[in-house]
Amino acid sequence: MSTVADITADLKALYNEKNCGPIMIRLSWHDAGVYSTGAKTGGCPNAAMRFTDGGEGCFGANAGLPTVALTLLKPITEKYVDAGLISNADLWTLAANVAIEHMGGPAIPTKFGRSDAASSAESVESQVGRLPDGDKGIDHLREIFHPKGFTDREIVALSGAHTVGKCHGDRSGFEGAWTEDHLNFDNSYFKDMLTKEYSDMTTAAGCPQKKHDSGTIMLISDLALLEAPFREFVELYAKDQDAFFKDFVGAWVKLQENGCSGLRDSL
Ligand code: HEM
Repeated sequence: MSTVADITADLKALYNEKNCGPIMIRLSWHDAGVYSTGAKTGGCPNAAMRFTDGGEGCFGANAGLPTVALTLLKPITEKYVDAGLISNADLWTLAANVAIEHMGGPAIPTKFGRSDAASSAESVESQVGRLPDGDKGIDHLREIFHPKGFTDREIVALSGAHTVGKCHGDRSGFEGAWTEDHLNFDNSYFKDMLTKEYSDMTTAAGCPQKKHDSGTIMLISDLALLEAPFREFVELYAKDQDAFFKDFVGAWVKLQENGCSGLRDSL
């Protein structure tokens, strides 16, 4: 077996045992998602979050990633990264892509060749203007995502990742899962948004969010997608899961490769 196939098999075993695919998607997204152009420049997937003496490992937006996600990944990191077979940044990318497909989502082509930051000094200066807040609306989403090269349509497709996973009060301050099967990567996030009635609530940590009687939630930033011109894409993806998967893969691969150069198809 190739090294990628070996790592993939170990990741799937980890996900079967711990049901932790969603946090690996968030780990890859926040590693890559600091990239920006315009007023903020630089940022690329470089695994700077593994340093917790400063920089990305200490950003509030990354709460739970250096601790929970990296602890879960540790045995695989020790086996492959410490042996010099893959970088941390490539492992995080692959871990997310394996998680998405393993939970029923689309297959994602993974490229390799990302370099790891050598210290927290290689972090971007701050999360502000680079990573989104869950209690804000469409102007904020555009301010964050347009300088990364994403269109309104791609913002909707990427947000569809919230079809899996949960918010944790001790990490973000928000609480609950978006969909009824938070380990199934499908288009139920979009279906729910269009069909469920949500009411306002404030979490124990004081964060405003929306809840449905079934116990699922939406962030203010999620329901902002019901406004024009985003809404037409929500409606499309709710009707046509293949369209969601196709658009998601395009936007997600772009996100994972933003700010990288010289990537290759194999390790
Ligand atoms: C559009 C703006 C976005 C906002 C405001 C946002 C906000 C959040 C928040 C507050 C959480 C909860 C973290 C926690 O408490 O554990 C979360 C979790 C998550 N986010 Fe996002 N997010 C956004 C976009 C994205 C994107 C682009 C992706 C990936 C394509 C993504 C994937 C996830 C996943 C998979 C989780 C679940 C993590 C877990 O279960 O531990 N999010 N997001």
